[in-house]
Order: sequence, then C-alpha cells, then structure tokens
Amino acid sequence: MSSKGFFITLEGNEGCGKSTQLRLLRDDLRRAGHNVLVTREPGGTRAGDAIRAVLLDRKQARMNATCETLLYMASRAQLAAEVIRPALKARRTVLCDRWVDATYAYQGFGGGVDRAWIRRLGLEATGGLEPDITLWLDLPLEAGLRRAAGRGPKDRVESKTLAYHRRVRRGYEDLARRQPRRFRRVRLNASDSIEAVRAKVREALSDVL
Ligand code: TMP
Repeated sequence: MSSKGFFITLEGNEGCGKSTQLRLLRDDLRRAGHNVLVTREPGGTRAGDAIRAVLLDRKQARMNATCETLLYMASRAQLAAEVIRPALKARRTVLCDRWVDATYAYQGFGGGVDRAWIRRLGLEATGGLEPDITLWLDLPLEAGLRRAAGRGPKDRVESKTLAYHRRVRRGYEDLARRQPRRFRRVRLNASDSIEAVRAKVREALSDVL
C-alpha cells in the first residue's frame, strides 16, 4: 500500500478514450496497492451533477463561455471540498476525469475567455488543489470526433465546430509546454487498440504504478 495518495487527472479532446482508460487505470492502480477513488467533472456531487445537466443541455445553445466557466468552476469547488480533499487526506489516490485544465483548454482556448482569469478562478475555487499528475490522451482530433459522433446524438459541447476543437487541442499543447512534469502527453494513434493505449498510460505513470 502506498503511503501517500496521488491526485491524478485525465484530459483530452472529445472521443479520446478517456472513460475506458480511466476504468483500466483504476484497476491498475488498485493492483499496485492504491486505495483509489474515481470521480468526474462536471459532476461528482449532487450540486455538480445538477450543474452538469445544465452544461450539456442542447437547449442552452445561447450560454456564453464566461457563464460556462463559472458553472464548471462552481461544480469543481464543490467536488474539491466535498470529495477530493477528504479522500486525499485519508491517503486515497484520486482519479478525476478532467480538472481546471479542461476549462483552460475549452473555455480559454476554445471560447476565448481570459486565461489568466481562469487560472485565478481555478485557484480560488479549489483552494489551490492541483493534480500531482495529469495525463493528456492526445488522439488525432478527427479520429476522436468520429468516435464521439458514433456514440449517438451530440451534446452541446460535441456540437461545436471543428475550429473550436482545434483550439481546445492547442490549449492542451500549451499546458504540456508550460508544465511538462505534471502535464504528461500520451501520444495516441487512431489505430491503437485499447490495450495499446493502456500500455502507453502505464508507461506514462511508471513512477506511480
Ligand atoms: P466529458 O466528455 O469528459 O464527459 O466532459 C463533458 C464535456 O464538458 C466535454 O465536452 C468537455 C466539456 N468541459 C468543458 O468544456 N470545460 C470544463 O471545464 C470541463 C470539466 C468539461
């Protein structure tokens, strides 16, 4: 059993395979002796799940990126206080589907919201809770969007333009350049099997597994 829990987050564009890999990684971490808690955002608490429903609702087509930013941060503030901090305190390893980096990439790069403001807001909403490690599942954009489209009707974010998703990806590139130790890029090919991606994820986390 590890003596300290880690805060690990997963990021990536639509259809990058995050949910599948999150489950596999949870199993791998458990096998390595971690007491793992899995959560996701927006959501993960009662307030957060209600906020998630608003954010993904296609009827909210007029919602602007500043409104989105504040809602994502509101959900995150609740998740940090109610779920993540107590788990880390109990030395659990927390595996979270997205974090402040997603707002930086989607609302900042994608939606044009001031990035310095997003960083400040992120610090305030979470009380400065930063992941120890973030894995960026970097699948070629078109492959991910094709995969997401195959899952059925698009939600509000998936319905945005290709140009928007390209800007989001540039946001993740920016983070990888700025914080290479924390923000680890896992380069994926469209032809990679689930097991091949799993092996790449394990390699990127060899210091924890
Ligand atoms: P998911 O695909 O990981 O379930 O996330 C739901 C959507 O919300 C996804 O399209 C990305 C988007 N999103 C943002 O735009 N900003 C954020 O801060 C977060 C956490 C998610």
